[in-house]
Amino acid sequence: MPEKKNIVITGATSGIGKALCKVFAKDNTVFAGYRNEKMVEELKAISHNVIPFYIDLKLIDSVAFAANFIKVKTDHVDTLINAAGCVVAGAIENIDLKRIREQFEVNTFGHLDFTQRLLPVLENSKIINISSKSSFGIFPFVSPYCASKRALDIMFNALLLETHKNIKVISVKPGVIATPLWGKSIDDNKDSIESAKGFEVELDYIIENARKNETYGLDVMEVVRVIEEIEKNPNPKSTYTVGWDAKLAECVSKLPQDWVNKIIKKGMEVRFKNAAKIKNKNLENKSEDADNIKTDV
Ligand SMILES: NC(=O)c1ccc[n+]([C@@H]2O[C@H](COP(=O)([O-])OP(=O)(O)OC[C@H]3O[C@@H](n4cnc5c(N)ncnc54)[C@H](OP(=O)(O)O)[C@@H]3O)[C@@H](O)[C@H]2O)c1
Repeated sequence: MPEKKNIVITGATSGIGKALCKVFAKDNTVFAGYRNEKMVEELKAISHNVIPFYIDLKLIDSVAFAANFIKVKTDHVDTLINAAGCVVAGAIENIDLKRIREQFEVNTFGHLDFTQRLLPVLENSKIINISSKSSFGIFPFVSPYCASKRALDIMFNALLLETHKNIKVISVKPGVIATPLWGKSIDDNKDSIESAKGFEVELDYIIENARKNETYGLDVMEVVRVIEEIEKNPNPKSTYTVGWDAKLAECVSKLPQDWVNKIIKKGMEVRFKNAAKIKNKNLENKSEDADNIKTDV
């Protein structure tokens, strides 16, 4: 029987983190991060191997408390999986800076803070960050999200290069995965979307796309399988992409910036023009229907 490991997962209440928790808790002790008390029972019901712990990455005290909780329970964590995350979107011209700071707080600084605090129990361990294809930095209207993931990758790659603790640091960059992240991103960004005057067509398109992603994205198990392999591998690579869209984003990002910008600009023009046409057509149909109702009456 393989040795039972200690695995810490943040964002274990939904999407990728939850799926990882279910898989790893079969044979390991999983410390599962939640921020909503209502999820504790659900996490405990997965397996007696699951130990839920409270963590809200926006709150420094909570991050410190969570790390202490784990260090009291164990003197060694085999694998830390930083999976929690959220999306801040909008037009960079008028997105509230407070929201951009929050984006970095959750996706970047919170994970770094938590990891630093766990370092005493992370000797000879693995840290797996769920980054994103957005880390390649080529997606307008979600630039805070892209920047937060890029910053995460840069700082954790520095940890990999600098550490004396023999820690393997791995960045997993999935493309679009069908999880609740997309629906939440629409709700969380309502204010930025409503205040983005002059960008209505673009943001309508982004919202429509987010709705589709939740249904048509890759199955969450595609990411889980890659992470299972990384977890078992004594010598994993430092970065993995999941999905053709992530691979394409990686290829495009390697081109000179001006070429990248031309490709993205052209792609946006076509997409937004089509989205505007469909919207106008729908509006025309609606007003025709309304006219027909009036004549019928
Ligand atoms: N879905 C995709 O297409 C995709 C693609 C590439 C990368 N990713 C990355 O994969 C990771 C997991 O995303 P997902 O798709 O599984 O999304 P998800 O279903 O929305 O899960 C996100 C998890 O993070 C938690 N979380 C959010 N804000 C937090 C905070 N302030 N403090 C602590 N926990 C917080 C959520 O808790 P609550 O349940 O309380 O909200 C939830 O458990 C994220 O880092 C995301 O950026 C996702």
